[in-house]
Amino acid sequence: MYLEKTTQAFEEIFGKKKTTSFFAPGRINLIGEHTDYNGGHVFPASITIGTFGVAAKREDNLVKVYSLNFKKVGVITFRLDELSYKTEDDWANYIKGYVLKLKEAGHQINSGLELVIFGNIPNGAGLSSSASVEMLAGIIFKEFFQLNLPTLEMVKLGKLVENDYIGVNSGIMDQFAIAFGEVDKAIYLDTNTLKYEMVPAAFGENVIVIMNTNKRRELADSKYNERRGECEEALARLQTKLAIQSLGELTKEQFDANTSLIGDEVLIKRAKHAVYENQRTQLALKALKKGDLVTFGQLLNASHQSLKEDYEVTGIELDTLAQTAQKVEGVLGARMTGAGFGGCAIALVNKDAVEKLKEVVFQTYKEVTGLQVDFYVAQIGQGARVL
Ligand code: GLA
Repeated sequence: MYLEKTTQAFEEIFGKKKTTSFFAPGRINLIGEHTDYNGGHVFPASITIGTFGVAAKREDNLVKVYSLNFKKVGVITFRLDELSYKTEDDWANYIKGYVLKLKEAGHQINSGLELVIFGNIPNGAGLSSSASVEMLAGIIFKEFFQLNLPTLEMVKLGKLVENDYIGVNSGIMDQFAIAFGEVDKAIYLDTNTLKYEMVPAAFGENVIVIMNTNKRRELADSKYNERRGECEEALARLQTKLAIQSLGELTKEQFDANTSLIGDEVLIKRAKHAVYENQRTQLALKALKKGDLVTFGQLLNASHQSLKEDYEVTGIELDTLAQTAQKVEGVLGARMTGAGFGGCAIALVNKDAVEKLKEVVFQTYKEVTGLQVDFYVAQIGQGARVL
């Protein structure tokens, strides 16, 4: 349905011509939050909702893009030799930034193109709609210009767009999950070495329900960078005595024995989350492989608690969703997913308890926040690809 609409819009805007279709998913993260820029482990998965793209090459050096999600912005046009960030170019900055990074990395892009995109990832929901657009750009340019662009490089360029072009100091998790995703597999990634393992997301009688706060992550970017800065400061203080490169290298015990080096209550809490969350992610891998979903669920709950108390990136909306869900019978665990400050939470729940979960969470969330929550049952699908 989405693809047809995208193709139809392409024809209406750019005329009938030979086009190629693409898809890049969104992602959830099972556990391992705010660990990817701390040299820790993450455990994300690509989902079946994402961004569709229909594109055709042009003869000149113009890139013309249109999003069915931002119709008001209209067609945005830019030249391949003028790729600086412009506020008025809105969402197209993700594409411009990606083209710029491709060129800076030495890739030859011989002509422009026309592109219509349509995403079914709720905007600003913390399911990585921006990384999805970046990876979409990656596969489109790779396909059209036969670029020698291995998937890992495609991922790293997406991260560079966020870091250098958009100004968010994010880690590698989102782009990695979106590019490397496979059907019914979660990706256990060591962000320190970039070694990864595809792990069957075998939840038995249970499903993952995504719960959207419908609260936009307004302060997300600045708070995100602030947290990252706090972790860097804590690391620098630990490094005065410890020979470590990242917080991810520490066990809980090593961390606890050295907090006096950090000497600041807030910084200790931030670093503690990074270290403990990394440990939890390693335990979660073991639990999932053994089929011990009870332990897995408890780790999800503990992750949320730590993101709430120590990392302080949740807020009333995410807390209400996760904590309400945790109390529903049949729910094994629930936590926020992604950067936080709004966006989505996930719950691992028995299939037969999904309706009950929705009912209870809907009601409580409305009472507490006045907002309406949306639910989606997550399906884990393949990564970014030509259709
Ligand atoms: C955002 C970032 C990721 C990661 C998560 C938190 O999604 O883009 O790199 O840091 O937040 O785990």
